[in-house]
Amino acid sequence: MEANDKSIQKKFDELKKLNREALLGGGEKRIEQQHKRGKLTARERVELLLDEGSFEELGKLVVHRGRDFGLDAEHYLGDGVVTGYGTINGRLVYVFSQDFTVFGGSLSETHAEKIVKVMDLAMKNGAPVIGLNDSGGARIQEGVVSLGGYADIFYRNVMASGVVPQISAIMGPCAGGAVYSPAMTDFILMVENTSFMFVTGPNVVKTVTHETVTAEELGGASTHSTKSGVTHFSCANEAECINDIKKLMRYIPQNCEEDAPRVPYTPGDEKRPALNDIIPANPNQPYDMRDVILGVVDENSFFEVHKNFAENIVVGFAHLAGRSIGIVGNQPASLAGVLDIDSSVKAARFVRFCDSFNIPLLVLEDVPGFLPGTDQEWNAIITNGAKLLYAFSEATVPRVTVITRKAYGGAYDVMNSKHIGADMNYAWPTAEIAVMGAKGAAEIIFKKEISEAANPEAKLNEKVDEYTQKFATPYGAAQRGYIDEVIFPEQTREKLIRAFQMLENKVATLPKKKHGNIPL
Ligand code: HXC
Repeated sequence: MEANDKSIQKKFDELKKLNREALLGGGEKRIEQQHKRGKLTARERVELLLDEGSFEELGKLVVHRGRDFGLDAEHYLGDGVVTGYGTINGRLVYVFSQDFTVFGGSLSETHAEKIVKVMDLAMKNGAPVIGLNDSGGARIQEGVVSLGGYADIFYRNVMASGVVPQISAIMGPCAGGAVYSPAMTDFILMVENTSFMFVTGPNVVKTVTHETVTAEELGGASTHSTKSGVTHFSCANEAECINDIKKLMRYIPQNCEEDAPRVPYTPGDEKRPALNDIIPANPNQPYDMRDVILGVVDENSFFEVHKNFAENIVVGFAHLAGRSIGIVGNQPASLAGVLDIDSSVKAARFVRFCDSFNIPLLVLEDVPGFLPGTDQEWNAIITNGAKLLYAFSEATVPRVTVITRKAYGGAYDVMNSKHIGADMNYAWPTAEIAVMGAKGAAEIIFKKEISEAANPEAKLNEKVDEYTQKFATPYGAAQRGYIDEVIFPEQTREKLIRAFQMLENKVATLPKKKHGNIPL
């Protein structure tokens, strides 16, 4: 870019110099260090995430206002965070990407202001916010203004919750506010071996609790994807992490007033005979609910969320006839698909996300009930199980259930039954809709008869058969209309496509209230 007038040219040169400087973050040496740690720079990540040439950076000349502890001698243009907007597959998103090469990506007053600016823009213009986090938390040298900066972000995380999708990728060691802000967003992704999340790091842990623990054990991707459930995705490397964000975007809308984007779909033969062979003859034998999911949804469209946590329930997005849906499926292949604390919380959170953003829900049910035991009771299965019941009851999006096998006890009610507002409920002929399994039921209600029988075992078997014939079927529920239709497994996809089409313009509202009081 050249100007005719020399004095103007000088001004142009000054801007060129500043722009070059801003690109460097904490300098070439520190960029090298970042690469050596197996990490990309803040800018490289943004480039990978957004459509080529679409990024518009905001505030790249911002510098911090800190004066203490040597801050006045060190200024970096952009102040440790790259912010702006761009597109992913042509759809607008707002992005911030923290630069670990500048004061460990820590959050100063001005760094916070830059993030707040894109969050406010996202709210006004109804588009997702994606945070690429690589930060040691509040900038220690700045004191309370950095804490205030985080609080400004937390407040906006909450205000934006349910209005625009918020996605957080953790791409380095993140502590303090750098984990609390992601915790209030909709999805967290972590990179294996190079990212950590903790409120306090291993050194503080050692001092306070005398535990010796590595950063990986305390807050690595494996820990948070399997033990705590804090992260929804554990990614092998940064490229996979960014790719997963793009995949996730395919299923979610821009904001709560819109529907998720549709993908092309050509109607064809929707019968899926392979579904007829999934349920084992022995009702206690496990099978993988993912096989049912894959048999029902559009090819290659299932995107599982929270895959390694609470594996007794499967949640994820898929396309059905080109339309985005959220799926919750009990998983008989893990703990017999029982509902426990972790699986209830995992599913409740997913249901609430889908409901916030107009994504219809499909429930695939095979559940023997809630997990008994002191561990569960003392850790509040009552309160936590109630979260799932609450989340389904409150959801106003189209809701369809298919009972493949067991629907026992309270879990029948919880798993999107018609009684709590589901729109359509189907059952396969193999469904057993009962208060409990036949053996347990027979042992309780025929206790006296069995103990007094000449051959108690034979009597028990006879009573188990009797109970099975009467209750371990879908027909009692179908006679009352609790089940809309008993269908052959091979018909499931076709029935679901039609049901969700029929429900496309569903309007349902909740009673006027400030907000409900979900059992937290
Ligand atoms: C200022 C920071 C910093 C911070 C790191 N740095 N964290 N500078 N404020 N919070 C600087 C380091 O001084 C160092 O500078 C550079 O970043 C890299 O840090 P290292 O420690 O060398 O890196 P690493 O070994 O990878 O460890 C990363 C780390 C660790 C785990 C993040 O730095 C750390 O524990 N930082 C402090 C975390 C923390 O307690 N933050 C405050 C949380 S309170 P040089 O110049 O040497 O390269 C908070 C309030 C929010 O966030 C409220 C929550 C509810």
